[in-house]
Amino acid sequence: MKVKLDYPIPLIYPIPITLVGSLVEGTPNYTCIGDTGLMGINPPLIFVSSHANHHTNKGIMENLTFSINIPATNLLSKTDYCGSVSGSEVNKSALFSNFFGELKTAPMIEECPVNIELSLVKEFSIEHRQIFVGEVAATHIDRDILVEVDGLKKIPSLPQLDPIIYALDNHYYRIGEQIGTGYTEGKKSISLPQNA
Ligand SMILES: Cc1cc2nc3c(=O)[nH]c(=O)nc-3n(C[C@H](O)[C@H](O)[C@H](O)COP(=O)(O)O)c2cc1C
Repeated sequence: MKVKLDYPIPLIYPIPITLVGSLVEGTPNYTCIGDTGLMGINPPLIFVSSHANHHTNKGIMENLTFSINIPATNLLSKTDYCGSVSGSEVNKSALFSNFFGELKTAPMIEECPVNIELSLVKEFSIEHRQIFVGEVAATHIDRDILVEVDGLKKIPSLPQLDPIIYALDNHYYRIGEQIGTGYTEGKKSISLPQNA
């Protein structure tokens, strides 16, 4: 039995918590964004949905670049602050050590274990939201959590990255444990007859 909610809430979960960075008139600004997602790995595309009034949008349009910084749980209060106060009122770059990469105009946060630099490839509006689609120019990972196997750099496991997870119940969560491997678990235990 299902119960239909009284309102059409977009109940997707979990929601990743990111700090989207841009350079607004020469000053780095960071906005907490949950409405972001992977659009594909090859080419490497990510979208960000940000309210048209947000200060960070100005910097993205000014430079046609932005960054996505993924905070770990130790940055919970600073991250929540970046989601509660606008860069039009305070200089949020003072909260972090800032650095730049290949794109030169996409400010990034040293304290976040993962930083992604993006070039804007598409921008459009839906109601009060501006949607930015970025192509990844470079991805940076903290050296101390980077795993090297046979000289190849491997992506750290999620518990190591310790991301902040959010949900539409307005609470933050921490990631759980690994429970399987992609493209393997299904065929291990399920075998349907082939279509005729
Ligand atoms: C947990 C959380 C998630 C948020 N997600 C979004 C989002 O996906 N899109 C958005 O436009 N604003 C989002 N916000 C609100 C902005 O981060 C907030 O309005 C911020 O102060 C805007 O900063 P700016 O004006 O410096 O860009 C979120 C805030 C919080 C606390």
